[in-house]
Amino acid sequence: MTGDQGNSPSAAQSDHWERQIYGRGRQLNRYPYQGVVAAVMRRFADANWVERRSIRILDVGCGAGNTVWFLAREGFSAHGIDGSPTAIDHARKLLAGEGYDADFRVGRLDALPWPTSSFQAVIDRAAVSHNARSIVERAIEEIARVLDRGGLLYSHMFSTADTHVSGGHPLGDGSYNHFRGTPYDEEGTMFFVSPRDIEALFGEYFAIVDLQHVLRRDALGGTVRASWEITATRNNKMSPQPTQPDGG
Ligand SMILES: C[S@@+](CC[C@H](N)C(=O)[O-])C[C@H]1O[C@@H](n2cnc3c(N)ncnc32)[C@H](O)[C@@H]1O
Repeated sequence: MTGDQGNSPSAAQSDHWERQIYGRGRQLNRYPYQGVVAAVMRRFADANWVERRSIRILDVGCGAGNTVWFLAREGFSAHGIDGSPTAIDHARKLLAGEGYDADFRVGRLDALPWPTSSFQAVIDRAAVSHNARSIVERAIEEIARVLDRGGLLYSHMFSTADTHVSGGHPLGDGSYNHFRGTPYDEEGTMFFVSPRDIEALFGEYFAIVDLQHVLRRDALGGTVRASWEITATRNNKMSPQPTQPDGG
């Protein structure tokens, strides 16, 4: 049982992470990624500890709670969602064990269970990009919906410049699965984003304020792992409709 709803591709991807990864004790990441820390602190470092309590930050695809742990330690109102009950259980125990408070939910990235304009920032560290294109599109609309106008989005997405793309089975929409002989062999479906996709995916609801194309060349093997680190601000356009009627 995954706690996820239905047989959608989104549910299938959550099920993959639950069974193949977290259910086997893998990828229980302990510390937040550098890009996440930099994006959050660049925007909110000046907020004092009292102000931080009312800055609501959501980590979508929060996994085992590494980013939410960082947010809670820094005094923010910390929220996380993931399709894997095992990951969320781990995250809840991690934070409770250190006396931190956070709101964790098991659920889908393309059907966020919060009302419109609930957050001042949303973090996506390699979670949305772990889905087929239609789910990626819907998840970005959901992020736009729950984010306040002017709010911060930090998104880490896989790039088409990654040489391991060729080790996957193409699904025809820019996403791939069944990787062989790559660092992604366990990771289910992955969507690789081109420069044109960035405009198509984010252009409607966001203004991109910083865009880093991060290429890591393996000096021994010659392969390249490539990703985008996208920092964007929610524009003033009216929010899209929720996937579920009340956003919950
Ligand atoms: C690569 S892990 C990243 C975990 C965490 N953000 C980190 O940086 O350590 C991708 C996460 O996204 C979650 N995920 C992917 N697609 C999802 C979906 N459609 N609905 C809910 N969770 C999803 C997975 O369960 C997994 O925890």
